[in-house]
Amino acid sequence: MSTIRVAIDGPSGAGKSTLARAAAAALGFLYVDTGAIYRTVGLSAREEDVDPGDETAMAAMLPALRVELRYDKAGRQRMLLNGRDVSEEIRLPEISRYASAVSALPAVRAYLMETQRELARKNSVVMDGRDIGSVVLPDAEVKIFLTASARVRAERRCRELEERGTPQPFEEVFRDIEDRDFRDTHREAAPLRQADGAVLLDTSALDFQQSLEALLSIIRERTGL
Ligand code: DC
Repeated sequence: MSTIRVAIDGPSGAGKSTLARAAAAALGFLYVDTGAIYRTVGLSAREEDVDPGDETAMAAMLPALRVELRYDKAGRQRMLLNGRDVSEEIRLPEISRYASAVSALPAVRAYLMETQRELARKNSVVMDGRDIGSVVLPDAEVKIFLTASARVRAERRCRELEERGTPQPFEEVFRDIEDRDFRDTHREAAPLRQADGAVLLDTSALDFQQSLEALLSIIRERTGL
């Protein structure tokens, strides 16, 4: 039986992961958060004291690295780094910067490509990231470019950080999002862009439930599910 692939790309803080997870649960598909994979590689760069912008040093580190995905009983994705569960640690703002730097390196992207494709061969997936519809799964049955204004995304991120007990000033979060947007869209390796054939979904004026309904209706329309 062939699998169905839903590729969701967009900038950070657009609500991709929450929405993609909810959509996957509604459809009975596996949710794959590829940002978490880049974050895990970013964390390992920090732990190994490797400059995340140094491609030679990073490429030398990759072969010894064990980055694994697991799903817990509740179906949540967990990330393991050399056997250790790092799912919480990779969410620290400092690791966002490491992840953004390592994700700009072609050697890192190539190294992680097969892991992502294999998951989509074995399972029907909702996979979110930056280059899923354009590079990782260019033949995906459904491609969505999910976005929201930088201000709305910063507000949502602030709320999320507060709920996690690690609040940060709005201006800092906003600047961080703008910096990351710039790096993610201007890098040479697989820059963030709306893939050919992707449907644009802007959630700036939508709440969670409205965004989820819009997302599911695009998926259902395209797949006949
Ligand atoms: O979605 P996120 O914020 O967890 O992603 C962390 C970083 O990884 C972000 O800077 C973009 C990068 N990334 C990427 O380049 N390609 C992906 N498919 C997913 C994430």
